[in-house]
Amino acid sequence: QNVVTQTDAKPVPTLPDAQTVTSVKHWTDRLFSFRVTRPASLRFRSGEFVMIGLMGDPHPETGKQKPLLRAYSIASPSWDEELEFYSIKVQDGPLTSKLQHIQPGDQIILRPKPVGTLVHDALLPGKRLWLFATGTGFAPFASLLREPETYEKFDQIIMTHTTRDVAELDYGRTLVESLADDPLIGEMIGDKLVYYPTTTREQSPKMGRITNLLQDGTVFKDLGIDGISADTDRGMVCGSLEFNKDIKDVLEGFGLEEGANSDPKHYVVEKAFVG
Ligand code: A2P
Repeated sequence: QNVVTQTDAKPVPTLPDAQTVTSVKHWTDRLFSFRVTRPASLRFRSGEFVMIGLMGDPHPETGKQKPLLRAYSIASPSWDEELEFYSIKVQDGPLTSKLQHIQPGDQIILRPKPVGTLVHDALLPGKRLWLFATGTGFAPFASLLREPETYEKFDQIIMTHTTRDVAELDYGRTLVESLADDPLIGEMIGDKLVYYPTTTREQSPKMGRITNLLQDGTVFKDLGIDGISADTDRGMVCGSLEFNKDIKDVLEGFGLEEGANSDPKHYVVEKAFVG
């Protein structure tokens, strides 16, 4: 009799759409990033996401395993040889409780069908681009910040990132600091990029939710700008459901309208994967 003994979710090398993990970095006990091989045929636009995952546990009666997939923003730019992802670890999360244990050489499932709205095509031309992230919502912007088009299309890019603790800013801060030495975009950036990190639960130079800091004018005072207007400003948003909803209200309050691939406007939103 053919007994299925596999009880953990260690991926099987014969998976369809399998890609090999090339490196893993744990940033905090709640956050990690990893890189995988890129399917030769995969083309994507910086800012898009794909479905990735592992085989789930065997069904208790049939022993059958089904893929356990979630939407993950690609954190690497469209020209990179590998694909990078940035993830939360949720101890009882169906996928991330297992995914957090991957090692170089392991395989994951990656469905090569990139989609998403955090793309330049979904925005009308403008002067200033705001990138608003909370938590792992930084991931699509890690891609867009390494995309030459970002600097070709805008005079100024303001990257805001709000996290609970200071250590949760590390992934984004490291990426931002690496850009000056980036062979492709280092020179394009000049002084176009402004990084505006804030924390809410641990002391740091700038405390508070970005939504509040926009509404009370703190951000504008700090950066020496008049405010946000539909004439000049464009936005991309990626965070929790509640964050996305609240910042939409703030942006709509400034007169910005939500765009889509088929109908480019002033700002676009995507939910960061949580769990
Ligand atoms: P707070 O600590 O006040 O909840 P999380 O780790 O839970 O995804 O949160 C990431 C960051 O996003 C935290 O700093 C959190 O602040 C902030 N945040 C959560 N919800 C909102 C919201 N509705 N508007 C603005 N910021 C939010």
